[in-house]
Amino acid sequence: MEPVIIKKSLIEANRYLKSDPSHGLTHIQNLFKIVDYLIKQEGLLGKVDKEILYLAVIFHDFGRIGNLTNKNIDDHDKKSAALATRFLRKLKYKKIDEVVSIILHHDRKSNVCTLEDIIFYDADILDVLGAVGIGRTFTYGGQIKRDLDGSIKRLLWKSFRNQPTTKTAKKIAQNRRKFIRDFIKHYNQEINLKDG
Ligand SMILES: [Fe+2]
Ligand SMILES: [Fe+2]
Repeated sequence: MEPVIIKKSLIEANRYLKSDPSHGLTHIQNLFKIVDYLIKQEGLLGKVDKEILYLAVIFHDFGRIGNLTNKNIDDHDKKSAALATRFLRKLKYKKIDEVVSIILHHDRKSNVCTLEDIIFYDADILDVLGAVGIGRTFTYGGQIKRDLDGSIKRLLWKSFRNQPTTKTAKKIAQNRRKFIRDFIKHYNQEINLKDG
């Protein structure tokens, strides 16, 4: 592990992602914890490169900055990869290609190929689900001026979205998806005044 590179990258993330509360430092800290947990539970300690995973976590959503129209979000992986390359080159980091590869594969399950890709994809999926996912969805909704119903529709979509790959993440995702569906059920009861 290169603690200085991680530390400098985190300082950059703190500066760069300040204007994005739904994809900023809280998301990064959550992903660090989920990545660690999945590695441990899946028996992958020593089999995956934690350092490149951590750096991919830090930079993977940089490409979202300055784009709050909900359009062109599809290519944020490429923008994030370019920004990570530029920053890590300045630090003369040696495994830029490996970090960039995870970033480029992070947004679509069909792109996932290495063990690191699998762990990353599963972690990122888990952080859009459950109570955290609900919080992040409404926070992002505020950022793009989306109304409440729009965020509820988005949550519903998330509750059926792509499945993770690892057994550990599948189990967590199942509980978190159920939590979202229960939340939406309650929301609909409230707006129809059937919660009394
Ligand atoms: Fe992303
Ligand atoms: Fe993310």
